[in-house]
Amino acid sequence: MNDDYKIPQHVAIILDGNGRWAKSKHMPRNYGHKVGADNLERVIEDAWDLGIKYLTVYAFSTENWKRSVEEVTGIMTILRDFLKKSIDKAEKNNMRVRVIGERSRLDKDIIEAMNRLEEATKDNTGIQFNVAINYGGRDEITRAVRKIADEVKAGAISSEDITEEYISSKLDTAGIPDPDLLIRTSGEIRISNFLPWQISYSEFYFCDTLWPDFDKEALRKAIDYYNVRDRRFGGV
Ligand code: FPP
Repeated sequence: MNDDYKIPQHVAIILDGNGRWAKSKHMPRNYGHKVGADNLERVIEDAWDLGIKYLTVYAFSTENWKRSVEEVTGIMTILRDFLKKSIDKAEKNNMRVRVIGERSRLDKDIIEAMNRLEEATKDNTGIQFNVAINYGGRDEITRAVRKIADEVKAGAISSEDITEEYISSKLDTAGIPDPDLLIRTSGEIRISNFLPWQISYSEFYFCDTLWPDFDKEALRKAIDYYNVRDRRFGGV
């Protein structure tokens, strides 16, 4: 590896293509999600091996409720299982987990599992894994604006106190640095309401690989791409 090779501190991924992957194997969509979740566990480890400090993934959007009841139930079962396994995993590999998104619509046991996982891992110093569940970027910003409006109304802050940093501190991602690199798998070139505030200066990488096939080599290629970009943040 050359000395100038840069590892992005924070990588965000839109996991896409589970359904098409399953279809190509003549299997039901939920089989694709199961294999996708297993792949996610491997990719978290690969990310840490490569030196990535924060990994944020889009696992379930506010729009995903529109899918069939069977598919939504299947994804929720996979999520339960994933949260349960993550407690042991996090203890072994020192991973810290944060969940972003609006929780109240989720089943009570899932909310409890999320709270437990966050609490149990909050002092871990390995990779920070952020999982977006019932997440929508506009919803996140709307919730933050409401909190800030309440503070202004209560006289706790004045409108001049509302800076970009202050808004960031009211988002679900408060305290997490913005992503350096955003990856979307499976050939779609869209952001789909994922972290719209946070990716203002991120590099974007789109690849055709379907999520269940996205491996360490694929992650490495995305980082190679990041390395040939020249990040100027609007400067010259
Ligand atoms: C995208 O593929 C996948 C989803 C919307 C669901 C993602 C769920 C998982 C990866 C399992 C997640 C793990 C957790 C932690 C819940 P798609 O269904 O949009 O694929 P398609 O575009 O090929 O139909």
